Amino acid sequence: MPSEEIKIKLFDMVLCFSRALDLMHPKISDHHLRVAYIACCIAEELGFSLTEIQNVLIAGALHDVGTASSALRLSILDHALNSYRLEHAELPEDIHNHGFEGFELMQHFPPFAQAASAIRYHHVEWDFGRGSEFAGEPVPLVASILYLADRVSVMPTAERSCLEQAAEIRAAVAADTGKWFMPEVVAAFQEASTPESFWLDVMCPHKEAIIHDRFGGHEIELNLDALHELAKVFGKIIDYRSPFTATHSSGVAAVAEMLGQRLGFSSAESKSLKIAGYLHDIGKLAVPTEILDKPEKLTREEMLVVKQHPYYTFQILSMVPGLEEINTWASLHHERLDLHGYPFRSREIPLGSRIIAVADIFTAITEDRPYRMGMDRTRSIEVLVQMVLNKAIDGEIVAVLRNNYDEFHRIRSLSQGNL
Ligand SMILES: [Fe+2]
Ligand SMILES: [Fe+2]
Ligand SMILES: [Fe+2]
Repeated sequence: MPSEEIKIKLFDMVLCFSRALDLMHPKISDHHLRVAYIACCIAEELGFSLTEIQNVLIAGALHDVGTASSALRLSILDHALNSYRLEHAELPEDIHNHGFEGFELMQHFPPFAQAASAIRYHHVEWDFGRGSEFAGEPVPLVASILYLADRVSVMPTAERSCLEQAAEIRAAVAADTGKWFMPEVVAAFQEASTPESFWLDVMCPHKEAIIHDRFGGHEIELNLDALHELAKVFGKIIDYRSPFTATHSSGVAAVAEMLGQRLGFSSAESKSLKIAGYLHDIGKLAVPTEILDKPEKLTREEMLVVKQHPYYTFQILSMVPGLEEINTWASLHHERLDLHGYPFRSREIPLGSRIIAVADIFTAITEDRPYRMGMDRTRSIEVLVQMVLNKAIDGEIVAVLRNNYDEFHRIRSLSQGNL
């Protein structure tokens, strides 16, 4: 297993998470990448270096990450996507809050630090220069670029040719120069958006390739430790979507790593299991928060929506070359040995996937949730053993967990901030 030598491109991870964020909203298919593309074109026109453009790319690709936290925040995104002109009085909360949340989520991972500062203020209007500061803090130039890119991105509609709409959009932006947008950023946008190819790229569904060819020159590689740090950030964002499972991925990650260690996995392989634990529910970004946050029993239709999430986990992580094994471990976490799992009904379930499945069940039944307490030792072991007897999950893995119950309980509680 090549886990020790794992080299993943930060670029690929960012693009895959960007696509995952777009799954949150039925109306958007590529809002984040559209903004990333427009912002990078403007940055290039302004003479940014390749390294600086990478930060613009990260900022654009993840700029609305703060809307992941709740249905309310998501409705802000809904407003922002529906109209170029935002009526602030009609919004359910301050438009800047999701920028602040995005900053909080991203700032602790060093390669994201600069992008996080721009995301924080990506809805600040220029207001004839007063927007160079916000609440006494300087607003970075990248934030002003993001703001224009974000507003432009929502204007073209699929109903008419984008080339027909280009002149109107450029005129609308020109009319708002100074009031909404920083004049230098507008000038760079007007220059960058002159070629027809700019608009065709903006509307093209295959933006990863376009962005990669044009702006992917300076690629940062992540080793296993850096990938682990990044997966932790993504895990936090996934968990953050629902208060019911606010630390679930952290629990699964910690339990899976320890199970790997006990079952003879190398330390690098065990760390890869931990990464799979952080990412296993990434496909849940496609499940509406109304379903995730429903304390009552789900209806059959709602259950069918939930059942899609490991499929999306697989599709999202498939976008990252080098992540194949971690993807298999993560995506098969609802498969069962008796073929009664979902969604692949896989006949072959690798040991890593079986470990994530047991870690997931153990964490889910023992963690406290706002509407119920977690199961105690006796009850949780009963549940796991019954599943082994039903030939649903791997008995050897459950035996390891059962024989070291206190340690597993402790590491799960610790990782979920309960001790
Ligand atoms: Fe936004
Ligand atoms: Fe946006
Ligand atoms: Fe799951």
